[in-house]
Amino acid sequence: MLSVALLPHLNAVLNAIAACLLLGGFIFIKSGNQAAHRLCMISALCVSSVFLVGYVTLRFYAPIFQFQGEGIIRPIYYTLLISHVLLAMAIVPLVLITVLRAFKERFAAHKKIARWTWPIWMYVSVTGILVYLMLYQIYPVTTAQLL
Ligand code: HEM
Repeated sequence: MLSVALLPHLNAVLNAIAACLLLGGFIFIKSGNQAAHRLCMISALCVSSVFLVGYVTLRFYAPIFQFQGEGIIRPIYYTLLISHVLLAMAIVPLVLITVLRAFKERFAAHKKIARWTWPIWMYVSVTGILVYLMLYQIYPVTTAQLL
């Protein structure tokens, strides 16, 4: 069975996959490959949806760890974290509207909103990975701190 302790790592991997798919989708549309763009973006949406389920499960079962870094890294971490969380909330309706416009083949309108959706989604995915690295890999909570 999947342990809750594995979820932060799995979520980071999902974020990394989403970022790669977003980059691929962007490169494809810029080179005129609509079908590959569509496939990448729908895949990114699926991966991000799985991430969301994993994230909600994690928040439900596990405590929020306090960041262990000291000094200048603290304001950097919290700036990343707060901007990540706020934009993660904003991205949900943006993605839905962007995809809906594409499915209705309203491509001019799709393009207009996608110019906001794509960079914000990318920022959220990349900062998700950075926050994970800082919290769990670079400045991890030690067992002693948990007791
Ligand atoms: C949330 C998911 C999606 C995002 C973030 C996204 C993002 C983008 C971006 C950044 C562009 C280029 C805009 C520009 O040139 O400045 C674009 C164009 C385009 N997208 Fe998407 N896209 C998504 C989903 C889709 C889907 C599902 C389809 C197909 C059904 C699609 C079809 C197109 C087409 C045809 C264009 C070219 C529009 C034009 O040049 O007139 N997109 N999209």
